[in-house]
Amino acid sequence: MAEQSAKRSSFGGKLTAILAAAGSAIGLGNIWRFPYITSENGGGAFILIYLGCILLLGLPLLVAEFAVGHNSKSNPVDAFSKIRKGWGWLGAAGLISVTLIMGYYFVISGWTVNYAVASATNSIGSDYGGFFNNFTTAVWSPLLFTYAFILANHFIIMGGVQGGIEKASKYMMPLLFAILIALAIYSVWMPAGREALGNIFTPDFSKVSGKTFLDAMGQAFFTLSIGMGAMLIYGSYFKKGTKLAGTAISVVSLDTIVALTAAVIIFSAGVEDANGPQLAFVAMPKVFSAMPAGNIWAMLFFLLLGLAALSSTISMHEAVTSYFVEKRGMSRKRGAWLVTIVAMTLATVASLSLGVWSGATVAGMNIFTLLDNFTAIIMLPLLGIMTALFVGWLWKRESMKAELTAEGGVDKATYPFIRFLLRWVCPILVSVVFIFGLVDFISNL
Ligand code: PHE
Repeated sequence: MAEQSAKRSSFGGKLTAILAAAGSAIGLGNIWRFPYITSENGGGAFILIYLGCILLLGLPLLVAEFAVGHNSKSNPVDAFSKIRKGWGWLGAAGLISVTLIMGYYFVISGWTVNYAVASATNSIGSDYGGFFNNFTTAVWSPLLFTYAFILANHFIIMGGVQGGIEKASKYMMPLLFAILIALAIYSVWMPAGREALGNIFTPDFSKVSGKTFLDAMGQAFFTLSIGMGAMLIYGSYFKKGTKLAGTAISVVSLDTIVALTAAVIIFSAGVEDANGPQLAFVAMPKVFSAMPAGNIWAMLFFLLLGLAALSSTISMHEAVTSYFVEKRGMSRKRGAWLVTIVAMTLATVASLSLGVWSGATVAGMNIFTLLDNFTAIIMLPLLGIMTALFVGWLWKRESMKAELTAEGGVDKATYPFIRFLLRWVCPILVSVVFIFGLVDFISNL
C-alpha cells in the first residue's frame, strides 16, 4: 500500500488545487443552469434560498468530500471502503450518477463549440429559435461536436494529474475569469440591462414552493459537484498539508461569484422571455446581434461556456477513470478509453432524444431531461444525505477530527460546528427538502 501511494500523483501546489477544484465546480451549472432556474423560480427569492443551501449544506459537504479523498488517497470506491468497510457502494453510486450526468452534459458542451464557431463566422442568421431547434434536433452535427468535446476531455485525462488536469486548469481558469469580467462590464454598461437586472434580483416570494427549495438545494449540490466523486478524487490529489476548509471556502466563493455574475450578464441582456434551457443559446446570440461587434461578444460568451464545461467534465471523467485504473487495475489509457466510450454512447442517446428519438419518454420527459432531473432532483440529495451521515456518524471520530484539524485547516473551535452541521443539519434538512420537494414535483408532473 505504501508503494501504491508513493506512485500516486498529486497537484503541484495550493493554488493549482484551488484552480482545479474551482474548475470542477464552475461549469454549465453556473452559466447555463443557474440563470434559468433562477428566472423560473422567482429571481431574488430563489437566490436567497440558494445562498442558504450553499452555506449550510454545500460548504460542509464539500469539506467532507475533500476530507474523504484526502484521507484515503484513493478513487471514490476505495475511499469510502478504506474509511469504513462495506461502504464502497456509496462511492460507486456517485460514479454511476456522474456517468449519467456526463450523458447529457457533454451534449450541451458540444453545442457551445458549434455556437462559438457559428458566432465567430456570423452564421447563426436571424431566426435564433429556428437555428437552435434545427441544430439540436439534427442527427449528426450535434453528435460530431459532442464527440469532439469528449475527445478533448480524453486527451487531457490521458495527460495525467499534473500534465493534463492541472495544466489545463492553469490555462483555462484565468482565461475563463477574464472573459467573464469583460462580459460583465459590457452588459451592465447597457441601460436596458441595468433595469432588467433590478427586476431579476427583486424577490418574488409568490413563486416559492416546496419544489423551489428542492431546486435550490439540487442546484447548490450540482454546482459544487457534491457527492459524485469528482471533488473526492481531487481531494485525494491535494498535497499533504493542503488546507481543506480554506480550499473549500475559496472554491465556494469563486463558484458563487461566477454564478451571480453569469446571472447578471444574462438578465442584463433583458432576456426574461426565453424559456428554460434555451436561455443561453437562443436569447444570448439575439441580444449580442444588436450590438457593435456583437458576433465577437457572442463568440466570447460561448467560449466562456465551453471552457467552464471542459474544466468540469474533466473532473467527471477523472473520477470514473481513477476507479478503473486503481480498482480494476487497468492502464490509464485503457481506463480513459472505457470512460470515453461509455460517455459517447450515453451522449448519443441523450442527443438523439431531442430529435429523432423524442417519442421515447418517461413521465413525459425525454431521455435528456430525464437524465438531468433524475440526477439533480433524486441522486444529488440522496448522495448528499449519505455523505453527511457517513462522515458525521460512521467515520471514526478521532480519525475524522485529525484529518480536519491537524492538517485540514479547521481550528479546534470551528470543528464542533462543522461536525454538528454534518451530523444533524445536513441529513435532516436535506431529507425534509427532498421529501417535500419530491411530493411537490410528482404532484405537478
Ligand atoms: N459543478 C459542475 C457545474 O456546475 C457540474 C458537475 C457535477 C461537475 C458533478 C462534476 C461533478 O456545471
